[in-house]
Amino acid sequence: MIETVTELAAMRARVAEWKHAGLRVGFVPTMGNLHPGHHSLVELARENADRVVASVFVNPTQFGPNEDFSRYPRTPDADAAGLDAAGADLLWLPSVEAMYPHGPEAAVQIRVPGVTGVLEGAHRPGHFDGVATVVARLFNQVRPDVAVFGRKDYQQLAVIRYLVADLAFPIELVAAPTLREADGLAMSSRNQYLSASERPVAAEIQRCLQAMREASQAGMRRAEVESAAAQRLGGAGFEVDYAVVRLPDLTEPDTRPGAPTSRVALVAARLGRTRLIDNLEFSL
Ligand code: PAJ
Repeated sequence: MIETVTELAAMRARVAEWKHAGLRVGFVPTMGNLHPGHHSLVELARENADRVVASVFVNPTQFGPNEDFSRYPRTPDADAAGLDAAGADLLWLPSVEAMYPHGPEAAVQIRVPGVTGVLEGAHRPGHFDGVATVVARLFNQVRPDVAVFGRKDYQQLAVIRYLVADLAFPIELVAAPTLREADGLAMSSRNQYLSASERPVAAEIQRCLQAMREASQAGMRRAEVESAAAQRLGGAGFEVDYAVVRLPDLTEPDTRPGAPTSRVALVAARLGRTRLIDNLEFSL
């Protein structure tokens, strides 16, 4: 049975006990309202560790003023049951006060300027600072040996890699594949906001990413791939924030001979009031 802990000292004592026994501790941070994508992260953590801690914390510092912090769905009972079934041993449920003893506004902040100025970072100013800030705290609270993050949030993963390298956290990162609905739509807590008529349209993002891959592999110029993708999504009813092809580190590819051939196509687009992101990694 999963143990739910809301006090920092109690959580630390449990993890210390495991470490003392020589066990390897895995960690999966989340904001709750969990779906099978989150559960798959816990299963992957299980494969990489002897004990698994999952956290649920809706982090105020990563939401913009016009974003859905107060509306963000909170489903604690279902989350605990799902984490238990997926094999988590401990649910860490910190209060806002435990996470931000001086209040979210006065909190020590972590900034990751190297990866946050583009794409999601450019469209959601301050978002990744909030993510890096809370993940650094969670890492210090839990002190896991290994932590699992989803590839669904491609740029977030890049931010976390940067954070771990720059602050020398002794933590191994594991990147988990994106779990999808049958029609290809990436699972997300935000999908439930889609109306019945929007829901089938949302799968167009994944089809568009595949078309971007095929066009790139067929040798189409990047600018054309990107504008065709934006046009396609616009035609399907999306407001497109970006539809781009990048190197894995999110910089723009160059075409010199011998340049790396691995790519990632990334899309962020709004359908009605719901903002969706997805990506596809491929090689030319
Ligand atoms: P949240 O959106 O709850 O996501 C928690 C983790 O689940 C992230 O690593 C995310 O990439 C992963 N995830 C989401 N959808 C997925 C899917 N369809 N398949 C596989 N993995 C998926 O990301 C956050 O929370 C927060 O920013 C957090 C890192 C917890 C910091 O507050």
